[in-house]
Amino acid sequence: LDNPLQPIISHAKEYGFIFPSSEIYGGLQAVYDYGSNGAELKKNLKEVWWKAMTQFNQNVVGIDAAIFMHPTTWKASGHVDSFSDPMVDNKDSNKRYRVDVLLEDKANEYRKAGDTAKAGALEQELGRLMDVEDMDGLRELLISEGIKCAISGTDNWTEVRQFNLMFSTEIGSVADESNKIYLRPETAQGIFVNFMNVQKTSRQQIPFGIAQIGKAFRNEIVARQFVFRMREFEQMEMQYFVRPGEEMQWYDHWKETRMKFLQAIGLPAEKLRYHDHIKLAHYANAAADIEFEFPIGFKELEGIHSRTDFDLSKHAEFSKTKIQYVDDTIEDKDKRKYIPYVVETSIGLDRLFLAVLSNSLTTAEGIDAKGNAKTRTFLKIHPALAPNKVAVFPLLRKDGLPEIAKGIFNDLRHDFKTIYEERGAIGKLYTRQDMIGTPFCITVDHQTKEDNTVTVRERDTTEQKRVKIEDLHAMINKEVSL
Ligand code: GAP
Repeated sequence: LDNPLQPIISHAKEYGFIFPSSEIYGGLQAVYDYGSNGAELKKNLKEVWWKAMTQFNQNVVGIDAAIFMHPTTWKASGHVDSFSDPMVDNKDSNKRYRVDVLLEDKANEYRKAGDTAKAGALEQELGRLMDVEDMDGLRELLISEGIKCAISGTDNWTEVRQFNLMFSTEIGSVADESNKIYLRPETAQGIFVNFMNVQKTSRQQIPFGIAQIGKAFRNEIVARQFVFRMREFEQMEMQYFVRPGEEMQWYDHWKETRMKFLQAIGLPAEKLRYHDHIKLAHYANAAADIEFEFPIGFKELEGIHSRTDFDLSKHAEFSKTKIQYVDDTIEDKDKRKYIPYVVETSIGLDRLFLAVLSNSLTTAEGIDAKGNAKTRTFLKIHPALAPNKVAVFPLLRKDGLPEIAKGIFNDLRHDFKTIYEERGAIGKLYTRQDMIGTPFCITVDHQTKEDNTVTVRERDTTEQKRVKIEDLHAMINKEVSL
């Protein structure tokens, strides 16, 4: 089966970004590990998001809540009763599939074959049936599209059923129903249940936001989607608490702000679009996705939802505690106490990682040292996100060049993630840094001993220029900040 994500999957594995989890045992479906370069890129993505939320906005504060939560949390939030996706089993192979993924794959097949009208019509019908939760309709669509099981090759499907996506485990030593707890399927609830604690201790006044980065778990049934849809993943969510009636202005504000953020970190405007939801979840009064054009087509990258006072009201009801805000800026005393409305922004860190990686992997026509045409592959990633900011090499392993290069390395590494290498030909060292997206390579040669300059090679253009050692810090610093 040809997978449009395959070049990214191979690059991610070969250059230490992402490996299948516990690969020596054959891997674990929809679970992945980040390698040395992947961990750095992921950390950088978290840092820019955290900074954009909690540093650029004086009224957004961060928290770090636990993955395990009191089980009643998930009854109150509605996840126990309705956090499910339609799934279908093939009767011949006993293999289970997500119905939406099967049908989306089919739509992409049409699109690849050039039939965009048919692809669009199928996606629209899928959206409609999912919205009205018509399980029989979904099954009929599967069969009418001739979708076969990848294993048995038959379309002998069971009826379509809703499966809850939450993972559960037992807390304490006794494995009975009363000890059952869930691994959080979203980070948002940790923010809602802490609303009063955070509001009081951070002394924030409405409107204000609470941001969080953390793991979430969903028992997804997946089909070859790499880190787009995982069972263990990370979310970066922000809940913005506002005065009831003012939520639409904040919803528009955050839709725009989040789009600007994604463009600022290097995702091109033409690969991003909004998808406004027509049918809304019972707790929302507006919702939109920001979609990115992944190699598998335009798909949801981030959600912006106006969630009303649904979550805080439900937690107040189920916990029998008072959750409310006293707004001194309101003149009418009777109207001062209220349950805030919430506008949320929610992005998958791993999905953002995939967007950045697939957008950055670039193949360009170039000319080699002998003047022959050749293609060059490199990772054209925003320097602020690059796993390494700079690599330092001595041209030769003699004549005192390694000592000078190590000196530069020791100086730069205090402020930038810096690599030092002296083994291998310079051309190969450059190529390796290109593949992991290092914006600058510094080479120390004999001229360095005479005039204290080094060669700085720029990743995207491969242009080389001589720079004074004392100017390196300022030059790198200027490029790697967002
Ligand atoms: N609190 C709202 C919420 O969780 P969601 O649309 O279910 O909303 C938000 O998820 C974001 O989390 C998505 O836009 C996506 O980026 C990411 N996400 C959701 N499920 C995921 C999965 N299985 N693997 C990777 N990322 C996922």
